Parts: sequence; structure tokens; C-alpha cells
Amino acid sequence: MSQESIQRGSTVFSSICAACHQPHGRGIKNSIPPLDGSEWLNAKVKGVPVSILLKGLKGPITVKGEKFDSEMPSKATLSDQQIADVLTYARKQWSNNSSAITADYVAQVRASLIDRTEPWTAQELKSMVGGKIEKEEQSSSPFSNNTQTIHKTEAISAKITIEPTHSESSSLLLIVAILTLIKGVYNSSKK
Ligand code: HEC
Repeated sequence: MSQESIQRGSTVFSSICAACHQPHGRGIKNSIPPLDGSEWLNAKVKGVPVSILLKGLKGPITVKGEKFDSEMPSKATLSDQQIADVLTYARKQWSNNSSAITADYVAQVRASLIDRTEPWTAQELKSMVGGKIEKEEQSSSPFSNNTQTIHKTEAISAKITIEPTHSESSSLLLIVAILTLIKGVYNSSKK
């Protein structure tokens, strides 16, 4: 389930990615690009972030309009499940709200890239998806009334329990309270 995947992914993120991309996901100015709001992490074509973790990335890249030129080593020693978990976590953390990635999908991408040893360049990844990295459409407001939305609401609450930051925690508490209320109304209307 995607909620468990998010929880496992949070552990992988803190132990491996946070050192560079930072726990807040905003990276380091002029040296490490952000994951929060990144079109690469949140790409509509999920193969983009998966390929980056499997082979690494090197050279100039623009993320959210800012230029970086560095290198990220491959994370191919992580299992398919760990890569799926950490990307699912990051794609739903901070302001991100993109869909989950499964271990099966990572396995397929890994198999298709078996012969490649070099890290990617941003340019190469771009041309593989038609010249432009497109962010996945953000899902609609969690306040519309259907089952899928309730499911999403749970994921959002889970996300908040995992890692509230100090400056955000009070407004997040308010949001959690509102979401819990909405869920309660929904559940009682089902009975
Ligand atoms: C050693 C530092 C380091 C670590 C550890 C690291 N990254 Fe990166 N990452 C970078 C750098 C530097 C770039 C940009 C590379 C370039 O300039 O071509 C990057 C780029 C990226 C990108 C594409 C650009 C963007 O900002 O969206 C993604 C996605 C990404 N990393 C995800 C991860 C994830 C997930 C992890 C943990 C599994 C991770 N990285 C671990 C340094 C790191």
C-alpha cells in the first residue's frame, strides 16, 4: 500500500538523500537542486526520476528555473522496493503531490537500462521524453467528495505525522483537525 511505502521511503530518504537534498527538500543554493516542487522528481513520466536514481546524473540541469551543474552518484545498490518507496515518499512530501511509484515499475526500468553504465545528462533525459520535462498534474483539492479523495486525505495525514517541521506544525495541526472532521462526516454519511 502506498501509505506503508511512504513510511519506509521516509527512512530511506533520511538516511540517504537528506544529506544532500536536505530534510526540507529544498536542496542547497547553487549546489544541490531542490526536490520540493521539482519537475524532475514530479515528472509525469515516472521513468525520469527512476532513471536518475538507477544511473546517476551529471552536468548542467535547470530545476524550477534555477541552474545547477554538479553530479549525483547512482543509487542502483538500493533495491527496486527501496527506490519505489523513497520516490513515492518524496513525490508526496513537502508541496509535492504526485502519484506513487511501484517496485514492479522500477524493476522494468532497471531491466531496460541494463546495458547503460554512464550517468545521465539532463539533456538526454529531456530528449527521451520529447524535449520537455513535464510535471505531473497536481491532484485536485482534497475537499471534493469521493472515496479516492478520502484515501488521499489519509495519505496527507500520514505525511504530516511523519515529519512536521517546526514553522509549519501549527498550521498543519489545523489542517489535520479539519481533515479529520471531514473524514468523520464522510464516514458517518456512509452508515
Ligand atoms: C551526494 C549528494 C546527493 C545525494 C546523496 C542524492 N542526490 Fe539527488 N542530486 C544531487 C545533485 C548534485 C543533483 C544534480 C546533478 C547535476 O547537477 O546534474 C541531484 C539531482 C537529483 C534529481 C533531479 C533534479 C531534482 O532536483 O529533482 C532527483 C530527482 C534526485 N537528485 C533525487 C535524489 C534522491 C531521491 C536521493 C536519495 C535516494 C538523492 N537524490 C540523493 C545530489 C545528491
